[in-house]
Amino acid sequence: GSPGTRERIIVNDFRFYSPTRFVFGRKVTDRTGEELAALGYRRALIVYGQGSVVRTGTLDRVKASLDAAGVEHAELSGVRPNPEIGSVRAGAQLARDFGADVVLAVGGGSAMDAAKGIAVAAPYDGDAWDFWRKRAVPSTCLPVACVVTIPASGSEASNSCVISNDAEHLKCGLNTDIYRPVLAVMDPELTFTLPPYQTAAGVTDMIAHIMERFFSGQPAAPVTDNIALGMIRAVIEAAPRVMEDPRDYDARADIMWVGTLAHNGLAGCGLGVPGGRDGDWTCHGLEHELSAFDTSITHGAGLAVIFPAWMRYVWREHPERFLEFGRQVFGIEPVDPAVDDLTGIDEEVTPERAVADAVEATIDELQDFFVSLGMPRTLSAFGMQEDDIEQLMPGLTINRGELFGSFKKLTLDDARAIYRSAL
Ligand code: NZQ
Ligand code: ZN
Repeated sequence: GSPGTRERIIVNDFRFYSPTRFVFGRKVTDRTGEELAALGYRRALIVYGQGSVVRTGTLDRVKASLDAAGVEHAELSGVRPNPEIGSVRAGAQLARDFGADVVLAVGGGSAMDAAKGIAVAAPYDGDAWDFWRKRAVPSTCLPVACVVTIPASGSEASNSCVISNDAEHLKCGLNTDIYRPVLAVMDPELTFTLPPYQTAAGVTDMIAHIMERFFSGQPAAPVTDNIALGMIRAVIEAAPRVMEDPRDYDARADIMWVGTLAHNGLAGCGLGVPGGRDGDWTCHGLEHELSAFDTSITHGAGLAVIFPAWMRYVWREHPERFLEFGRQVFGIEPVDPAVDDLTGIDEEVTPERAVADAVEATIDELQDFFVSLGMPRTLSAFGMQEDDIEQLMPGLTINRGELFGSFKKLTLDDARAIYRSAL
């Protein structure tokens, strides 16, 4: 068949579960307490990072709103980017001692993931790491709520939680619907204080969440595809505006809402891999090994390097998806000798060549966009060298196995080749 027709056995069925109550807008931070109280919560364990919410005054505002609503609180501070299992263990103990009935993250993906980890660890008798090493499956958890300070991970509505274990040199994800947050308080003004690098990494991450699903290997799912590519267009339009003016509320708000919808499952409806996830997720797998190898690597920055490298490696498997992406996101069409004036072009433009050129132009545009925001282009920007690649392999094998990916099945040797191409 022609590109886009259904030649394979396709299952477009899906389950979409997004139980989160979103409270979005200017100053909603000050409503956190009343929203939690209205949901029946009385004792919140607040979880936050390494101080940004203290410096910006956000933590004090949240606490004042809890006090006003009669919600008692305790707190766990110091969660680092790429949160570590130690914070989860400490927070779980605190949650038990305090008798928390909700875990309230105030921060980004790191605080939110620590909160989710605490929420499943608190009622569990064994060691929390069992869950991420897949030795145990969580069956119960405390409710999780979030005050989002950086649009990026989408953790405020996702079923994921990614935790590092420094002693074991691992960073592992765990997916379960039970800790999708019950409440996400989303005040775009909180993101005015983000450093440009974090803004850019967040934008990259949310685009990656949409692309992992778009490039699942399944053919067109027009409703979802239009939602997905429309969201990417909206972020690409808004991102330069916030780089220029960090206090551009409308652009911050657009980016924030896309960050959520990119990862709550909406962008994957009908693109799921039968029996598997709602996307390919290879680039996330390859990136998580970078952040495990060097915990100072920011997830979104790693993705800015990995995603284009993966694309260049796999696009020939389903060129029609790349053409659709290029067309809708960047307005790139393959050259057509029947229509276009090719005067001055010496070589013969075969249809294959026209497709390859259009796809390459698309990947170049995407990578240039990430770089224009301040993201790195290569792994060497992280100080990584060829020798380091082998150290990523044991973790990748544990987390992904020897054969992974749905857009194109990849082996560990393919992974090595993709990393090398990104050096
Ligand atoms: O720690 P503090 O002092 O708060 O500073 C943070 C941190 O240094 C700072 N920051 C956050 N909001 C700010 C701010 N600084 C100024 N003003 C603000 N409003 O930004 C830095 C990054 O914060 P972090 O929470 O680490 O960022 P992000 O939201 O990108 O989260 C990254 C983590 O989420 C995981 C990543 O792997 C990584 O560990 N992910 C989680 C997912 C999920 N649960 O669904 C999906 C993602 O694919 C991702 O893997
Ligand atoms: Zn991500």
